[in-house]
Amino acid sequence: MTQELAPTRPAPERGWWRDAVIYQVYVRSFADSDGDGIGDLRGIRERLPHVAALGADALWLTPFYASPQADGGYDVADYRTVDPLFGTLDDAAELINAAHDLGLRVIVDIVPNHTSDQHAWFRAALADRQGGPARDRYHFHPGRGDAGELPPNDWESVFGGPAWTRTPDGDWYLHLFAPQQPDLNWHSPEVHEEFESILRFWLGLGVDGFRVDVAHGMVKAEGLPDIGAREQAKMIGSQVLPFFDQDGVHDIHRSWRRLLDSYDGERVGVAEAWAPSPERLALYVRPDELHQAFNFQFLNCPWDAQAMRAVIQTSLAATALVGAPTTWVLSNHDVVRHLTRYGGGDETLGLRRARAAALLMLALPGSAYLYQGEELGLPEVTDLPDEVRQDPSFFRTDGQDGLRDGSRVPMPWSGDVPPYGFSPQGAAPSWLPQPEAWKSLTVEAQTGDPHSTLELYRSALALRRELPGLGDGPMTWEQPPGGYPDGLLMFSRPGFVCTLNTTPRPAGLPTPGRLLLASEAPAEDGAIVTLPADSCAWWAI
Ligand code: NOJ
Repeated sequence: MTQELAPTRPAPERGWWRDAVIYQVYVRSFADSDGDGIGDLRGIRERLPHVAALGADALWLTPFYASPQADGGYDVADYRTVDPLFGTLDDAAELINAAHDLGLRVIVDIVPNHTSDQHAWFRAALADRQGGPARDRYHFHPGRGDAGELPPNDWESVFGGPAWTRTPDGDWYLHLFAPQQPDLNWHSPEVHEEFESILRFWLGLGVDGFRVDVAHGMVKAEGLPDIGAREQAKMIGSQVLPFFDQDGVHDIHRSWRRLLDSYDGERVGVAEAWAPSPERLALYVRPDELHQAFNFQFLNCPWDAQAMRAVIQTSLAATALVGAPTTWVLSNHDVVRHLTRYGGGDETLGLRRARAAALLMLALPGSAYLYQGEELGLPEVTDLPDEVRQDPSFFRTDGQDGLRDGSRVPMPWSGDVPPYGFSPQGAAPSWLPQPEAWKSLTVEAQTGDPHSTLELYRSALALRRELPGLGDGPMTWEQPPGGYPDGLLMFSRPGFVCTLNTTPRPAGLPTPGRLLLASEAPAEDGAIVTLPADSCAWWAI
C-alpha cells in the first residue's frame, strides 16, 4: 500500500458513538462508478459529500469482501479481500481516508456466524473425511434415521427449508441461512484466532468499528436440541430458540471489546442481535461488551403512539440498567422500508408517517441509524419482476417471502430517467430496476425544496448537532394539561419538546414552545396549536 494510503484517524471525541447518527450504505446500491450497474467503493467515495452534508457522523458499509454473492455479500469467501465487483483494497483504504477527511467515521460489517461455502476453510472441510479436523471449524454431524438420511435436528433456515444440507459422504452441515452460508463452530479456538486477526486487519486499515452480523447466533445450545412445536426463526425475529441469544455469545463479545479497546480512537462494535426482550438485548451492550445493539423492537413497532411509548420506555429502561445508550433504527436492507410499512399500501400516508417517525427517532436519547434513501422518502419497490430478484429467501420460500430486494433498489441521485445518476452515462442497467416515479425523489430534485424529505432530514440533523438537549442525555414524558388525547406523545429534553400525533385527526394542545421543525406544519392560534394528523414537531422551550 502506498504512503498516501496510510490510515487517517478522525478527531478524537469521547463517547462519540453514544449519540452518533450512522448512515447505512448498502454498497451494491449506493453509487456505481464503473458502469456495470452495481454500486462500488469508488462510487461511495464520490458520493461521500451527500452523507457529510446530510449531517451524519459515520457510515456503516455492508459487506464488500470477496464473495459469490449468494446472500448479497453476507457469504464471505475471503474476509481480507475486496470483491472485484466493488473494487480493490486500495479503494477501501482510500474510501476510509476520504470519509475521515470529511469528519465521517467508518464502520464495516463483519460476518462471524458463517462463511461462504467457497471459503478455503469450507472447501477443506468438504475435502476432509467425516470427523476430520477441517470439519471441526463448522457444524458437521451424522444424520438421524436408519441410514442417516434425516437431518440431525428439526432446525429450519431463516430463509426457509431445513437448516441442514447433506454432503456426498453422508454428513450433514448446519446453515442457519442459505446452504451457501455454513455456520462456523465457535467452540473451535482456530475460529476465534482467525476472527481476531480479521478484526485487526481492518482496524489497521483505519476502520472505526464493526457491525457484527448475527451477533446473537455464533453459539448454539449444547446438544443442538430440537425446536419442537415452537415457531421457527424469522428474519429480525424475537423468538426464544436454541441457536440464538445463547449466553455463550457474550464471551466472544467481551473478547472483541478488549481487542477494540486496545486501539486508539474509540473503535466500536454494534450488535445485529435478535433478542426476545429489551432486557436480553441490553446484555450485548454491557460496559465490557459491544457499544451498540440495533433496537429492532422499535423498528417492529406499529404506528401507534401508545405502543411506541411502551417500546421507547422499556428500551430506555433496559439500556439504562447497563449504562448504555439506546440505538434506534427504522429501516435497513432486511426489512420493508418504513414508509411502506407505515402506509400499508398508501404512499402519501406512508410518507407523512415516515417523516414524523424520523423526527421522533432523532429526538430520542441515544444513537440512530439511517438507511440510505430514507432521507429521500423512498418507498419499498413492491413490483420487482421475479427474474431480477436476488434475495435467497425469495427462492427458498417459493416467492412467498422475497421481501428484501424491494428495499435494495439503487439510489436515485439526479436526472429524469433511470439510472438517475446512480451509474455513469452509457452504463449497464442497474442491477435492480428503479421505478419511473423516482424522478421526483432524486437528491437533485429535493435539494433546496423546503418541503422535501431530504431538507427535513438535513434540518433535523443540523438541529440535533446544534441543540445541547438532543442526542445523549435525559428525557421526560410530558402530560398535556387534561391528559393525553389518544394517539399523542409528548416528551421533553433540556430546552426542547417533541410532540407526535399518530392519529388520522388533527389534535389541539397548548403551544409547548417555539416551533423549530415539523414534519407537517402545525396551525398555531395564540396559545393553542393544532398538530396535523400523523405528524411530529420539535419545539424550543
Ligand atoms: C443479517 C444481514 O443483515 C442479512 O442481510 C443477512 O442475510 C443475514 N444476516 C445473514 O448473514
